[in-house]
Amino acid sequence: MLSALAAVLLASGAANADTIKVGVIGPLSGSYSLYGQNFQWGIQAYAEANGTSVDGHEIEFVYRDLPGVDPAKARALAQELIVRDGVQYLAGTYFTPNALAIAPLLEQGNVPFVVLNAATSSIVEQSPYILRTSFTMWQNTVPAAKVAVENGSKKSITVVSDYGPGIDAETAFKTTYEEGGGEVVDTLRIPLSTTDFNPIAQRIKQSGADTVFAFFPAGAPTLGFMKAYIGNGLKDDGVGLISTGDLLTEPDLPALGDVALGMQSTYHYSADHDSPENAAFMTALEAIGADTSKVTMAAVAAFDGAKLIYEMIDATDGEQDPQTAVDAVKGMSWTSPRGPVSIDPETRHITQNVYLREVAKDGDGYVNKEMRTFEAQPDWGLAQK
Ligand code: PHB
Repeated sequence: MLSALAAVLLASGAANADTIKVGVIGPLSGSYSLYGQNFQWGIQAYAEANGTSVDGHEIEFVYRDLPGVDPAKARALAQELIVRDGVQYLAGTYFTPNALAIAPLLEQGNVPFVVLNAATSSIVEQSPYILRTSFTMWQNTVPAAKVAVENGSKKSITVVSDYGPGIDAETAFKTTYEEGGGEVVDTLRIPLSTTDFNPIAQRIKQSGADTVFAFFPAGAPTLGFMKAYIGNGLKDDGVGLISTGDLLTEPDLPALGDVALGMQSTYHYSADHDSPENAAFMTALEAIGADTSKVTMAAVAAFDGAKLIYEMIDATDGEQDPQTAVDAVKGMSWTSPRGPVSIDPETRHITQNVYLREVAKDGDGYVNKEMRTFEAQPDWGLAQK
C-alpha cells in the first residue's frame, strides 16, 4: 500500500503533467460578439504558432460568454471557472465593469488575470495579480489630443460613453488639449445604451467647436456615431473628428465607405501594420480559419495575452503559484504583431507604440494606414500619478 506521503507526491506529480486550464470570459454572443471571436482568434493563432503545451503541460482554454456590461454575471462566471473548473489563469473581459468585478476574486483564488480589452487605467490597481495586454484610454487619447492641437484645432467638444473608459478618455483629452493651448467648450457624457446619435450630432454642431473628440466602446455604438457624424453634415461642415481607433475598427470600415477616407485616429494596433511579426500573425490567423478582414485590437491583445500565460506556465512549471507567475512576466519585452512592447513592472500594463493612422483604400477594402509613431507610450493615466 502507498504511504500517505507517497500518495500526495504521486498526486502532485500527476497534477504537474496534467492539463492546465485557462478561463476566458468575453462577448461570444450579442452585438459585441465579433470582439469575443477576436479573443478566440488571437488565442488560437498563438497556439497555432507555438503549440498547445509548455514543458509537457497541455494548455486548455475554457470560454465563457458575457455579452454585455454585467458585473454580477462576470463575478459568477469567474467564481465558477476558479472553483468548479479549476482554472489556473483567467483572461478576457471586453468591458471595464466586468474586469473590476473579477478583481476581488483573484488573490483568494490564487489566479492571475490577463485583461484582454477593458481599458480603464485603474483596473490594474485592483489586484497584484492583474496584467493587461490591451491598451488604456489614456495611452491612446494623449496622442489624439496632441494631434488635434497640431492640426490647428482651438475649440473642441468631447462626447463619451458615461462609464470608466469614457471618463478616462474625456479627462485625458481635456488635460492634454488644454495644456496644448486649446479649449474644451463642452463635455458630453451619454448612456452606454444610446443608439440614436442624431441629437448628439446636433449638439456638437451647435457648440461652435471646430473639432469633436469621441469615445464609445467599439461595436454598434461606434458605427452609429460615425454614421450620425457623417449623416448630419458635420464632416462636410468642417467639424473635425479625432478619436482613438475604437471608433474606426477594421470591421466597420466597409460600412462607412469612401466617406471615411482620410479620417484620423490614434491606436496601438492596425491590422495593416507593416512588419514580419504582423505578417506571421496574419498567416496563423488564416491557418485557423479567421476572417482576416475582421481582425481587431482584441485579437492582438489575446495573442499577446496567450504569450504571457505560456510564459507564466513555463516559469512555474505548471504549479499554481500566482506570485511567481506574475513576477516572471514583469519587465518582459518582445516584438508583438503591433510593434515593440513591454510589461511595465510597476503597473503590469503593456507599454507600446501608439500610431496616428488615416483611413485609406486598399484594393477593394479599407485599412487604417499608419502615418506616424508615438514611441513606447506608457499608460499615461497611471504614469501621471
Ligand atoms: C472598456 O469597457 O473598457 C472598453 C470597451 C471597448 C473599447 C474600449 C474600452 O473599445
